[in-house]
Amino acid sequence: MRASVLAREFGTPLVVYCRDTVLARARAYARVDPDVLVVYGTKAFANVALLRLLAAEGLGADVSTLGELEFALRAAVPGERLVFHGNNKSDAELRAAAQAGALVVLDALDEVARAKQAGVEAVLIRLTPGIEAETHHAIRTAHAGSKFGLAADDAVAAVRDATGVGLDVTGLHVHIGSQLVRTSESLLAVERLVDVAQHCRDELGWTPRVFNLGGGVGVRQTLDAAAPDPAAFAGELVQQLRARWTLPVRLILEPGRSLVGQAGTTLYEVGVVKRTGGIAYAAVDGGMSDNPRPQLYGSRYEALLANRADEPPAGTFRIAGKHCESGDVLIEAAELPEPRRGDLLAVPATGGYTLAMASNYNGVPRPAAVLVAEGRAELIRRRESVGDLLAFEPSIQG
Ligand SMILES: Cc1ncc(COP(=O)(O)O)c(C=O)c1O
Repeated sequence: MRASVLAREFGTPLVVYCRDTVLARARAYARVDPDVLVVYGTKAFANVALLRLLAAEGLGADVSTLGELEFALRAAVPGERLVFHGNNKSDAELRAAAQAGALVVLDALDEVARAKQAGVEAVLIRLTPGIEAETHHAIRTAHAGSKFGLAADDAVAAVRDATGVGLDVTGLHVHIGSQLVRTSESLLAVERLVDVAQHCRDELGWTPRVFNLGGGVGVRQTLDAAAPDPAAFAGELVQQLRARWTLPVRLILEPGRSLVGQAGTTLYEVGVVKRTGGIAYAAVDGGMSDNPRPQLYGSRYEALLANRADEPPAGTFRIAGKHCESGDVLIEAAELPEPRRGDLLAVPATGGYTLAMASNYNGVPRPAAVLVAEGRAELIRRRESVGDLLAFEPSIQG
């Protein structure tokens, strides 16, 4: 579908998801192993329509809050395909997870008793193997001192305690970080996971039935960036695990970004174009409120003028947002034809952790999202209005 048609019908900024890209990724993951459950890392973009699409393909959902759980339940994801995470689960979250029949991933020793009390039946134990993933430090999750999971000794203790109180400890989990582009550290994590499992088998007589290898596969955001093929990345880990652990075991994978990241492109309208201090700026009608990743993680993106994509670049432009911070820059240097007010700027690979992390900074309503397939666009998230924001103000209600 033409970007100009989408922009006219749904407005900008608009996150446009390609259904076929999501489906191709989901199907490739499902083929990684004959006994794998793929659960979508809902945090990448919690959306009922996307969850439904994935559920119809046999995927489940990895959720970590009451909100994400509710999105998955509204998409009719069955309990046996729900994995509930969180480094600080509330009692209400544990009870809701239990009621939904989710597999709960225990992240702290005190969660053993609390999960039992909440009525949880089946659990995994999250191992923190002490590995520094090669990614931005804010999205590493398995280094020594991480707030997530349990170091090896505590993980073994959690297996012992949880079986002791009658929880069904089905297996172990590891997730070392996000936007990973190489497998080396993940392969090491698989080794450590197997070591802990072997230790539990030897010392406690407990044998895992499930290994959950988490998510984390990176996506390509710029033309010069390397990005792995997601299924090949996961396949390497699975192969390593199957080689090291030969007893029957079910696998779980939790991809988020690699399912939806590449599938999403954000469309903005260009407003002010100006030159100052040797910098050519093109400002768009969104920015850090719909994509905070450049500020949070130094994320880099490419852009093109969707309505003049076949014109050659005329120079390098800094793409600024509309927010009241100088740091509100989406792209430091985009090679573009001379942008003009009203042009459509498309920023690819913005389907994961963008709208999911959006804010209302500057009183800006969050954008809409559409799912495009076979020449048709379905609205999967409506645009917020200023009225939506004012609805949180009790002083003007009634
Ligand atoms: C436990 C867990 N599983 C899966 C994911 C999904 O990761 P990604 O979106 O990088 O695939 C995350 C994200 O941080 C996570 O914390």
